[in-house]
Amino acid sequence: MSADLTVDQASGRRVSARISAIAESATLAVDAKAKALKAAGRPVIGFGAGEPDFPTPDYIVEAAITAARQPKFHRYSPAAGLPELRSAIAAKTLRDSGYAVDPSQVLVTNGGKQAVYESFATLLDPGDEVIVPAPYWTTYPEAIRLAGGVPVEVFAGPEQGYMVTIEQLEAAVTPRTKVLLFVSPSNPTGAVYSAEQTREIGLWAASKGLWVITDEIYEHLTYDGVPFTSIATAAPELGDKVVILNGVAKTYAMTGWRVGWMIAPLDVTKAATNLQSHATSNVSNVSQIAALAAVAGPLTAVDEMKVAFDRRRKAMVAALNSIDGVECPTPHGAFYAYADVRGLLGREIAGIRPATSAELATLILEKAEVAVVPGEAFGPSGYLRLSYALGDDDLAVGVARLQEFLGTAKA
Ligand SMILES: Cc1ncc(COP(=O)(O)O)c(C=O)c1O
Repeated sequence: MSADLTVDQASGRRVSARISAIAESATLAVDAKAKALKAAGRPVIGFGAGEPDFPTPDYIVEAAITAARQPKFHRYSPAAGLPELRSAIAAKTLRDSGYAVDPSQVLVTNGGKQAVYESFATLLDPGDEVIVPAPYWTTYPEAIRLAGGVPVEVFAGPEQGYMVTIEQLEAAVTPRTKVLLFVSPSNPTGAVYSAEQTREIGLWAASKGLWVITDEIYEHLTYDGVPFTSIATAAPELGDKVVILNGVAKTYAMTGWRVGWMIAPLDVTKAATNLQSHATSNVSNVSQIAALAAVAGPLTAVDEMKVAFDRRRKAMVAALNSIDGVECPTPHGAFYAYADVRGLLGREIAGIRPATSAELATLILEKAEVAVVPGEAFGPSGYLRLSYALGDDDLAVGVARLQEFLGTAKA
């Protein structure tokens, strides 16, 4: 018996230290709490969810129905994905990111989330550092730690549009840094880096010999004419040290279908496929055929969703900025507003003086019946994330409640 095993047995631990260290997904937790209150009859308005409120377009659903009737799709298929889908993803990447890849570089995953996990698991050895611009999507640090890596947060506040600078990156890099994570448009802030900023960051990463893992899942959701730029194309100097993460969830209102992908150099894709072949095998064939109809088809549905998101974005940002103590920069991408609520902390609201955004979010849920996600889920306290991917009427009711409730805050 090894010494380590003896220690573990002596500790009496039932869940491993590695897995115990993973926090519950705060965004899913808020959503679950809001849904539970709703089920109990409370008229909760949920700004927590990270998913479009639209149904998946009909032609995508029809493709899935046809696939479900074909016995060949009732069987195991290649772990890396259906060949026709991998080809369509390669073609779509050239169309949307101007980045030429071979279908063999594409690994189809169980949602973008699995692509996040597999890319870190495949690139990181214990102690390798990953620079994570903050506020960050809540899953990244957990995925990095589970892979044995060390997330190094670089915080960019609202005064810099929630976008990191080269000086900040320079201060964070060490000899252990292996990867820079780049996410634009960003969840949770909605920030979109310009083509120039993207190129500058890519060049910086290339000069340090870093890998860049770029999450492009919100690529089609930008507003005010702000373009999406893929760092893979903006900075070809990165060579092959780029991993693109993406999926159909946000663009085609397909969160429940669970199809994402990673695109990497062939050796990395092959290694990640080996991992996936033992973990989950192929993604559901029916979902893959639905994803094929999505990525090979038009972008008209997302353009229509965007019109609604844009309208809601403007309504939400205006309402938030009308509240004394709240500052909300205008987001140019995704479907989230990230409000700076530091001005409210310590003020008296409904007889309580919340000291953190987590306490404020709890108070808002319990007293105003509005679900928001506190900044603690994405980095420092002092912020609230509000998704505007919900119906216009619910949005209007929700922001009116916030204005009324937070409007009573006293110094
Ligand atoms: C930035 C970002 N990346 C990846 C994902 C993963 O999406 P999914 O696993 O639903 O495809 C999400 C979902 O919220 C996200 O916000």
